[in-house]
Amino acid sequence: MSDHKNHLDHAYKLETVDATRDFYADWAATYDAEIVENGYATPARCAQAVAKFASADALILDTGCGTGLSGLALKAAGFSKIDGCDITQEMLAGAQDRGLYRNLWLSDPNAPLDISRGPYNVIAAIGVIGNGAAPISFFHEIVRKMASDSYFVFSFNDNTLADRQYEATLSNVVDSGGYNLLFREYGPHFPKRNMNSNVYVLHRL
Ligand SMILES: C[S@@+](CC[C@H](N)C(=O)[O-])C[C@H]1O[C@@H](n2cnc3c(N)ncnc32)[C@H](O)[C@@H]1O
Repeated sequence: MSDHKNHLDHAYKLETVDATRDFYADWAATYDAEIVENGYATPARCAQAVAKFASADALILDTGCGTGLSGLALKAAGFSKIDGCDITQEMLAGAQDRGLYRNLWLSDPNAPLDISRGPYNVIAAIGVIGNGAAPISFFHEIVRKMASDSYFVFSFNDNTLADRQYEATLSNVVDSGGYNLLFREYGPHFPKRNMNSNVYVLHRL
């Protein structure tokens, strides 16, 4: 296993699905310690943002749930009906241990997103889409799968924002009609590293 102190430094250099999965499998055991140590603030910001719009009894799918830090933040914001999925079995094992998810499953990044346990009032992708994790095609897949009158809460960190395709894609979705961007706020991601993120809440009409 590699030195856990180095995982964050390497997370933004992953180029293939296999490399991403191997990387997170290797990181799973030390992920929480390393990112909590860096002040990981995005999950709480996302959870509080979507709580402004969705009711506490909303059914949520936490995609790329990892070890469940995003689920923990959603729970702290008042939500209790949370399903989770992730492409990395080792990360998912951490989420399982938290005992806060209704259903948890291993997802296939090359297959359509499984929303069969829904309909979901909220889909979350917290710290999931961008350089070093899920590609922009995953953003499109979630947007396509949103139920009517549902919300998508997600984040793009500074590394991802530096690549203009991510926000350009979001603008195209909003401009195409049928979706409103209710919330966008720039704020802390890893404050100990002076790294920020944008948090968004998209609503499908
Ligand atoms: C930075 S972690 C975020 C985990 C959790 N949401 C959190 O906030 O702690 C990114 C997660 O996205 C998952 N992931 C990477 N590529 C993915 C993909 N194509 N589809 C779904 N999840 C993916 C990884 O396995 C990893 O658990």
